[in-house]
Amino acid sequence: MEQKLNELVENCISKLKDCQNLNSLNSLKIELLGKNGELTQILRGLKDLPPQERPQAGKIINKTREQIEKLINEKEIVLIELELKNKLEQERIDITLPAAKVSRGGLHPQTIVRNRIIEIFTSMGYSIEDGPEIETEYYNFEALNIPDDHPAKDMQDTFFITDNFKHNIILRSQTSNTQIRVMEKTKPPIKMLNPGRVYRCDDIDATHSPMFHQIEGLVVDKGISMCDLNGTLSAFIKELFGEKTRARLRPSFFPFTEPSVEADASCPFCDSEGCKICKGVGWIEILGAGMVNPKVLENCDIDPDVYTGFAFGLGIDRITNILYGITDLRIPFENDIRFLKQFR
Ligand code: PHE
Repeated sequence: MEQKLNELVENCISKLKDCQNLNSLNSLKIELLGKNGELTQILRGLKDLPPQERPQAGKIINKTREQIEKLINEKEIVLIELELKNKLEQERIDITLPAAKVSRGGLHPQTIVRNRIIEIFTSMGYSIEDGPEIETEYYNFEALNIPDDHPAKDMQDTFFITDNFKHNIILRSQTSNTQIRVMEKTKPPIKMLNPGRVYRCDDIDATHSPMFHQIEGLVVDKGISMCDLNGTLSAFIKELFGEKTRARLRPSFFPFTEPSVEADASCPFCDSEGCKICKGVGWIEILGAGMVNPKVLENCDIDPDVYTGFAFGLGIDRITNILYGITDLRIPFENDIRFLKQFR
């Protein structure tokens, strides 16, 4: 029996040498020490020995079991360490590899231009105001001296939400509603700028969109004259298009301003020589403006004998397209990433 046990230990030592992983170690453990294992077989053979030899034999068997268990445990520690090392090696991260590129977004060209215009006017001391896009007819038309029979009030141009005689609710067709709302609440001096979305019943094409963006400015104080308007618009146009650009005013008509003008910029792309962008004219139409009609001031309880003012309004979409040479108004609305990427 003793020889059998020695062989068992020898066998264990040699098998442990070949054992490469924890799985095969486990199998070996079962093979040697398990219920049907060799050691258990020997233990079962105890009953065949004479009773006086049994205690001594039992002791030897137990010692052998302890010996084998120790060998297996030692091997187990070695294998756990080895497997951990292998795992770490396999999952190693090469921190010297270049990182995956994170692509950066950018502002929409219209946002860039709007921000630029806001920057120019806030540097002149203008405040930024906001007004509702869903508006009553009163603020969008009546208070601005746009009479009922004015063509701009035609259903063709304006989106009506409700139609109940006194308080028609519409989508504002111009940002001028905010002029009225500010003048009603604020005593002059007023110096404000208000950017926003406006809506008109137009079919979509290269130059029209049912929703577009305006910026409107309003100044009301004692002694404001056409010279102030002229100086402001010239300074603005130079800031936006470059120092060499000149502004010119042409007579025009708006119900809420009197007199009314349209301001052009000398074409900054051809120095007024005539090119594709100015359509050979040498000048580009930029905005509408004028001295606030005394009736509009009166509508807001501002005394037109004491106060005067000027207002101007421009389309951000059109100015953006001019500045970036975009030929179709629809493109900036499509949000095609290939288009937008160019403005980062
Ligand atoms: N609101 C006018 C428009 O939409 C523009 C404008 C504003 C003209 C202020 C003069 C003064 O056409």
